[in-house]
Amino acid sequence: MRMLVTGEAGMLGSRVARAARDRHDVIGTYLGEAPGMEGVEEVWMDISDRENAFEVVRKAEPDFIIHTAAMTDVDACEREPERAMLVNGIGTENLAMAATEMGAGIIYVSTDYVFDGERKDGAYAEYEAVNPLSAYGRSKLRGEVGVRVCKDWAVARVSVLYGWNSPSQHANFVTWAIDKLRKGERISLLTDQFTSPTLLENCADALVRMAEARAGGIYNACGRSCVSRHKFGMQIAETFGLDGELLSESTSDGMKWLAKRPARACLSVRKIEEELGAKMMTTEEGLRFMKERLERGNAEGWSL
Ligand SMILES: NC(=O)c1ccc[n+]([C@@H]2O[C@H](COP(=O)([O-])OP(=O)(O)OC[C@H]3O[C@@H](n4cnc5c(N)ncnc54)[C@H](OP(=O)(O)O)[C@@H]3O)[C@@H](O)[C@H]2O)c1
Repeated sequence: MRMLVTGEAGMLGSRVARAARDRHDVIGTYLGEAPGMEGVEEVWMDISDRENAFEVVRKAEPDFIIHTAAMTDVDACEREPERAMLVNGIGTENLAMAATEMGAGIIYVSTDYVFDGERKDGAYAEYEAVNPLSAYGRSKLRGEVGVRVCKDWAVARVSVLYGWNSPSQHANFVTWAIDKLRKGERISLLTDQFTSPTLLENCADALVRMAEARAGGIYNACGRSCVSRHKFGMQIAETFGLDGELLSESTSDGMKWLAKRPARACLSVRKIEEELGAKMMTTEEGLRFMKERLERGNAEGWSL
């Protein structure tokens, strides 16, 4: 297949391009610097510019688009809701329209933040009612609506992406925590916010699998654990032999976030596992995967 991967410079987009390039012709898009990945054709694209999006998709002639590009800073989206809507909502619709013109399929990467997290226990299934609390969540939900302009659409919801980040990529919860703990800094972590942390490589494999299977509809493509930030922090300290005593407990009522976050936004992975045979990792498995990469010197420049 010819696969167009948007946001190739980003954390998830880079893993998707890497996972797909051995089996498919991959065209990656960037907005800032060209990432320069071997085996990937790279092209500049601004998804919020409809004309540019159409032009790039026409030239690329993809069979499939895996759309990871987004405005991902949740508080920045709260400050600039119109921009968030333009990039995450309308930008996705632009791509879906261009995909339709080319007869291509499209998978849109969405988020657990489409939910309000009011559930008391368990994990959200794909069919449950959405109710985003933030401008980011609303803009991503608009993207979930916009992607359906294309007949061959799918949505893959993910949560708290983690893995080794390259120097040009933003930190994620795990690399942030490792960095702090290595420096001997104390960190305070929430005991009342639960998510399904998602290993980048595991998610990228699931997305490529979805594209190859021409899966349609909504899938949760996240990790299989449902953990609080504090529990995840303890697992990180334990896996990497760092001092767990530096971690203290806190609750979200003391947080000075601009955007509201859902309290319990865990997602069920039953559908993607049963229908597509994907194996979504627990946080313990994902952290072990990262540790093995680190030991083999294959951790985006991070070292022991
Ligand atoms: N990070 C998380 O924990 C998390 C959680 C739930 C869902 N998600 C979703 O997962 C996806 C991947 O997240 P990520 O953290 O891997 O993303 P990321 O590292 O922040 O990368 C996002 C990419 O989007 C590109 N981009 C931004 N605006 C664009 C525009 N107007 N046109 C074209 N490209 C644009 C950027 O390109 P340049 O770098 O070239 O400027 C960037 O590489 C996103 O859809 C996000 O909403 C993420």
